[in-house]
Amino acid sequence: MDVLPTHKSKSLIIDCDPGIDDAVALLLAMASPQLDILGITTVAGNVSIETTSTNARSICELGQRTALKIFPGCPRPMVRKPIIAAHVHGENGLGGIRFPKPQMPLQQKHGVDFLRDSLLQSTTPITLATLGPLTNIATAIVQAPQMVQTLERIVMMGGAAGAGNVSGAAEFNFYADPHAAQVVLQTAAEYEIPVTVIPLDVTHRAIATPPRRQALRDLHNPIADTIATMLDNYGLREQRDMGLSGPPLHDPCVIAYLLQPELFVTESVPATIEVASPLTQGRLVIDYDGELDLPGRIDLATGINAEGFYGLLTEALKSFG
Ligand code: BDR
Ligand code: CA
Repeated sequence: MDVLPTHKSKSLIIDCDPGIDDAVALLLAMASPQLDILGITTVAGNVSIETTSTNARSICELGQRTALKIFPGCPRPMVRKPIIAAHVHGENGLGGIRFPKPQMPLQQKHGVDFLRDSLLQSTTPITLATLGPLTNIATAIVQAPQMVQTLERIVMMGGAAGAGNVSGAAEFNFYADPHAAQVVLQTAAEYEIPVTVIPLDVTHRAIATPPRRQALRDLHNPIADTIATMLDNYGLREQRDMGLSGPPLHDPCVIAYLLQPELFVTESVPATIEVASPLTQGRLVIDYDGELDLPGRIDLATGINAEGFYGLLTEALKSFG
């Protein structure tokens, strides 16, 4: 049997809005013993907070990780009008696939409180993976900005160096709550916390082509099979608009980065989020030449070894067999 490469174990909080690709990211994390998942927080994004929270429970049950703790977070963005992406992920957020009504509990504690208290109380570094709009993280930061000092790194899916997928300028996660994204990047800069941003330009190269979906089905396990079925109907409009040969696995790139950062190329660049302009709101502004004198830098992913990424995913999902 092949053995997954061993990397140091990471204590991880995952903030997400499942979402088909969030679901795949969660399952990849669950299948990876190198990741110690301290908790999952949910946020309104692809679908409502009620639905993202239900979906997170369904996915934990699918992965047989019912002891994981799921904390429901913010139901709407900080300032802008809420938007959802049911046209991308289906009305139930999981491509219309019907899961049994989840039985595992949702925690009573709010996701923002969990994030804040976990970071304030931990004596060891925590990594934060963000797969949706950054409302929970920014709200916790407003309450206790010093909490970020516990963070080893924030790894987020968001933004685009090229074209966006909501507007010409903006990608969904940053567009859905640009003010939150700006708060998170600014605070990380202030406290010198490393941030990795994996934008559309990279995730659009992590395409679940028909042969890659077939490779998942060939694992002959029900979880890989469910993933392949969800992917069959995922993001059809984005595929057409962007000329992609299958659905892009945006959010699983975050988990793959944590497991095998060598699969990605990154570049350290000054960056911020546009919040004011109605035309380009939510744009990840990258100041390559340092003209804008921005306070902080991000590690922007610019390349991915897509074969290696699908190898990692497929190998990890074998553990569900
Ligand atoms: C991001 O938006 C959501 O629809 C996906 O789950 C992903 O997090 C891609 O733009
Ligand atoms: Ca997401």
